[in-house]
Amino acid sequence: MNHDVRDISLAAAGVRRIDWADRTMSVLAVIRKRFAREKPLKGLRMSACLHVTTETANLARTLKAGGADLVICASNPLSTQDEVAAALVAEYGVPTFAIKGEDHDTYYRHLNLAIDHKPNITMDDGADLVWLLHSKRKAEAANIIGSMEETTTGVIRLRAMEKRGQLKFPVVAVNDADCKHLFDNRYGTGQSTLDGIVRATNILLAGKRVVVAGYGMCGRGVSMRARGAGASVIVTEIDPLKAIEATMDGYLVMPMIDAARVGDLFITVTGDINVIRPEHFKVMKDGAIVANSGHFNVELDLPGLEKMSKKIVRGVRPLVDGYALKTGRTVYVLAEGRLVNLAAAEGHPAAVMDMSFAVQALASEWVAASRRKLGRRVHQVPHEIDEYVAALKLQTMGVRIDRLTSEQARYLESSDMGT
Ligand SMILES: NC(=O)c1ccc[n+]([C@@H]2O[C@H](COP(=O)([O-])OP(=O)(O)OC[C@H]3O[C@@H](n4cnc5c(N)ncnc54)[C@H](O)[C@@H]3O)[C@@H](O)[C@H]2O)c1
Repeated sequence: MNHDVRDISLAAAGVRRIDWADRTMSVLAVIRKRFAREKPLKGLRMSACLHVTTETANLARTLKAGGADLVICASNPLSTQDEVAAALVAEYGVPTFAIKGEDHDTYYRHLNLAIDHKPNITMDDGADLVWLLHSKRKAEAANIIGSMEETTTGVIRLRAMEKRGQLKFPVVAVNDADCKHLFDNRYGTGQSTLDGIVRATNILLAGKRVVVAGYGMCGRGVSMRARGAGASVIVTEIDPLKAIEATMDGYLVMPMIDAARVGDLFITVTGDINVIRPEHFKVMKDGAIVANSGHFNVELDLPGLEKMSKKIVRGVRPLVDGYALKTGRTVYVLAEGRLVNLAAAEGHPAAVMDMSFAVQALASEWVAASRRKLGRRVHQVPHEIDEYVAALKLQTMGVRIDRLTSEQARYLESSDMGT
């Protein structure tokens, strides 16, 4: 089978880890069972460009159970778990192109191999496959009946293409489903970002001043978890509504230039570019630690930091680089400014990816069933999918909720406000 992974002999270790994740991916397991019976993806070729993690492996098993002819490539050069990539090939029969730490050329070679598969459905985490299908690999776009997008940054790229009238096929904004961003971005990124930072540095969070740039779904999660660990949290924002929300949630809000002077640890989660720049690095305390958990490695201006440094010590610890500034202070950057939760830890816990990937699997089924009837735009995930995943997750967690009585249902549906 066609593949490019680090070491196929790692497969047994990968299988053990994939099984461990599967224990808390109960919604996906229910869908997998049904897919195995009904084969809703039979006859379809799929290419998925996702972080190659244990959770992705369980999604891959589900799509294959549904009959898809699937290949996988990495959506980030640093996030691949090599034993999982090996297990996907050797145990689950999924051609996989992903090696942790792959260089730029290998990364794009792998994306192209995924497109050589001639997919009918693609899945992206950051819109890289869709971008290729609209640029260097335009010829293959004609085969596509639809594409799924996992993250905020990808959806922003796709909406921009839609606005310019460029989209060649329908895409589904999986990120925007409630069962995705309300849980994955908030609780998943919140916990795993701090996990990555602690694994990389072993710092004590209690008593630290943690600066969180961006108070979207991810920023809320990171701030909440940092506060829970005993840090005092400062938020920076550009959106007045988000800034007032952060203020009323009890965080200090200030511009980055002020936060830069007082912070011990900086975390960007904005989806924006150059959020921390030379003027900020210049005033940081000696020993300040800077990390990014936003999708692309552009949130920290590292070329700018490099220029203002007199010496760079790579690998102070694994995934920690020290930039000795001309001011005499040193700033430490984690994971070369790439998603710290995936580079230095294992990404989101399986229990929360269960919901995101349940939505991915059901959205694929929806696209397959639509058979080219969806327009060439960015589609929302149907609300029934969100409701189904939420109800099933609650059920598998053993949480029961009330049902409307018929009197309440009538009351809520009537325009009579009881006056
Ligand atoms: N690490 C992960 O595993 C993971 C998971 C989900 C999403 N993401 C990525 O994280 C990023 C944020 O996602 P989100 O869902 O929170 O997005 P969001 O749109 O909900 O929030 C982003 C916030 O950043 C703010 N912002 C933009 N530019 C800013 C600037 N210069 N300074 C301060 N604030 C600024 C925006 O106003 C917004 O409130 C995206 O790139 C997304 O793809 C990463």
